[in-house]
This record gives sequence, structure tokens and C-alpha cells, in this order.
Amino acid sequence: MKPIALTAIACLLGLPAILLAAKPLVIAHRGASGYLPEHTLESAAYAHALGADYIEQDIVMSRDGTLVVLHDIHLETTTDVAARFPDRKRPDGRFYALDFTWDELRSLRVSERFDPKTGAAVFPRRFPAAAGAFRLCTLEEQIALIAGLNRSTGRTTGLYVEFKDPAFHQKEGRDLGAALLEVLGRHGYDDPADRIFVQCFDPVALKRLRTELRTRLPLVQLLGDNAWGESPADYNAMRTPAGLKEIATYAQGIGPHLGQIVSGRSADGKPQLTSLVADAHREGLLVHPYTFRADTLPAGISDIAGLLDLFLVHAGIDGLFIDQPDAGVRAVAALPLKTETTRNKH
Ligand code: G3P
Ligand code: CA
Repeated sequence: MKPIALTAIACLLGLPAILLAAKPLVIAHRGASGYLPEHTLESAAYAHALGADYIEQDIVMSRDGTLVVLHDIHLETTTDVAARFPDRKRPDGRFYALDFTWDELRSLRVSERFDPKTGAAVFPRRFPAAAGAFRLCTLEEQIALIAGLNRSTGRTTGLYVEFKDPAFHQKEGRDLGAALLEVLGRHGYDDPADRIFVQCFDPVALKRLRTELRTRLPLVQLLGDNAWGESPADYNAMRTPAGLKEIATYAQGIGPHLGQIVSGRSADGKPQLTSLVADAHREGLLVHPYTFRADTLPAGISDIAGLLDLFLVHAGIDGLFIDQPDAGVRAVAALPLKTETTRNKH
């Protein structure tokens, strides 16, 4: 079925077209971060060229209120901040994006992710750390880039924005969720059918976007492990049928990690699937797991095609966050069109 027909069906049913996608969505995780330093404009442009359906932006705030595309609230794992501004760390030894103006942030050099203690690259076979002249970018710069590329190529690549650690921002007197909705609204993102998802690990902050801030945009509840300390949320409870029912009152989907869907292998080597995908689908929730990486495969999986087959064919996911979007595009292209769709109940 062609996308236009799906859109028409969605309209008739009163549903956002995104919820009736004919095939699972390929979400470029931090751009094409397997090939170029994460969250740079170059990485986003390459993800677009590789055919991703959505490009992910993690968002934090600068001292002067600019929304910056950056995975961590800290700067020292992907930039040269420690060399450029050595006296600007906090007592905990970390450099916080929130302590720098956008003019300062844009002057930093960005490289592949590294361990600030040793300087060693986290992914040793990726883009060389010493090469290139990459910079941070703002959310608005990425919005303009993707809109421009959509216009020049005729594609309809969407945004997939995660607002990072809203509780930290709130403690510092900043309202990251409200600032995000303001920027998105100014760029025309305010309709449930827009090509965008907004995601967050913090259920209180995400639910607030729907209730208090009254956004109509599609929301995705990320699920971590309690041990990670992403938020005070109890992710074990959120993954139960009752927890998923509650998520479905404010979100259109969940973003679990891979291990929450494939929990291990049986004695005969067969992958063991949890009931999470089926339980989420029962509540009308999309399932977009993270993170597929061709250069970091789970034990027992020999290549990215095998990993993708396991999740796309056997687990039945609706989308995937991947560092190498071309591998995701190839795997999804080989799938038959969906005969059943996950429908949101709102
Ligand atoms: O947002 C999905 C995935 O990106 C969550 O993990 O740590 O890469 O933001 P993280
Ligand atoms: Ca993310």
C-alpha cells in the first residue's frame, strides 16, 4: 500500500498517519552516529541521505536558553571543553552545557565519543577522533537542515526529539519541556499527524507535556533499567500490563532497550522473547527499541542483519533506533508490508 493511501485511511479513522506506517520506522540514532560524530549537522545530513525515516535529536539547554543537540548534560565526553575552558568545571569535576552560553558552546570542537580519563574512543572503529572540524548545533539548526533536505530531495524525514534530564534542568530553574514545545511550535510542529515524536525517560515530565502543557504531538515513553538512575521512575512497574495501560493514557509508544524485548537464549540457543511487544500492542502502543549498533552486537549474534531480523521479524517491533541507518533501511526494505497495524486509542 502506498503512503498516500495510508494517510487517507488514517484521516478516515481520525488517527495520525504515523501510527499506520506500513513498515517499521528506521530512526537514525543521534544521526548517522556510526559513521560521523553524533548529533552534528554532518551526522544528521548523512542519516537523511541514507534514507532514515526519522533522525533523533537529544536536547539539553545552554545558559542563555538555547536548545542544543547533545546527548549528555555534560560536555567532556564529546568536546574539547576541558582544554578550552579548564576552570569552568563544577566541584564534581564535570563540565555542564547549562553553564555555557551558546556562543561558547558553538566554539567547541566535537569529536567521536571518548573516555575523558584516558582519551580512548568509545567505538574504536568509527570516525577518527583527531579528524574533522565538527561543531555542536542547535535544535533549530537541525530542524532547518532536515526541512531543507526534505524540500530538495522530496523526502519526508521526521524529527525524533528526546529532552534530556528534565529534573536536572528543573533543579537549575529551567523548564526544558516547555522550551522544547515552544521551539517546535514556532517551527510548525503542533499537530498529532506531524512527522515528529517527542521522547523522554522521565514519565512525570513526559506526562506533563500531555496534561499541563497540552501538547498534541506523538509522545514516546523511554524505558530504562532502574539501576541506571535515569529518573526515579520504576521501569519494572512501567513494563507490566498495568504500567503500559497507564503509559497509554499519555503516550503513543514506548522505547525499551533491546534486553527488555529479547531477554536471553534457551538451552538450545533460541532467543527468548519477553511479552513486552505483545503487551504494549494490546494497549495500542508502538514499540521503538534502542540501540542497534553494527559494531556492538549482543552475545550470540554474529551480524547486524541477524539482530535486525530477530527484532523485526520475530519480535514484531514498529521502529528501531540504529547508529547505522543504512543497515536498518535494508532490513526494513526486505520485509513485507504490515497486514496489521498498531493503533493508538486516543
Ligand atoms: O532515545 C532512545 C535512545 O537514544 C535512548 O538512549 O542514551 O542513546 O539517549 P540514549
Ligand atoms: Ca536518545
